[in-house]
Amino acid sequence: MVYSEKVMDHFANPRNVGEIENADGIGEVGNSKCGDIMKMYIKVDDDTISDVKFKTFGCGAAIATSSMATELIKGKKIDDALQLTNKAVMEALDGLPPVKVHCSVLAEQAIKAAVSDYYKNKGIDPEPIVGIIPECGEGHCGV
Ligand code: FES
Repeated sequence: MVYSEKVMDHFANPRNVGEIENADGIGEVGNSKCGDIMKMYIKVDDDTISDVKFKTFGCGAAIATSSMATELIKGKKIDDALQLTNKAVMEALDGLPPVKVHCSVLAEQAIKAAVSDYYKNKGIDPEPIVGIIPECGEGHCGV
């Protein structure tokens, strides 16, 4: 399996790894097929994601995509962060081998789950804004 240099870089030196104390939103998603889990923490100021950190208990591609996804949403408005697709994350990493595409879906879902949690904490129903986060590995997420 051939990984791009960017994937290898983000796998070897993942950005934004860790937890945020007093996070405004925490999202945890899992892939029922491979059993990998990703947890994402966000801090929100003025509708902007001022900080984001993640922990991934999963494969190298999941670590690289979470790392890139956090870089792509840091400092962005929530609305823009919600537009981030797994395809955009893969493109930013110069691609992933086809069997690893599902790993990038985890990153997209983790962001949505963290934003949902943020809205819930504020007493706002997240579903009209974020939508339903499909369980990966069940065929809903296009993998
Ligand atoms: Fe499970 Fe990559 S193999 S997330």
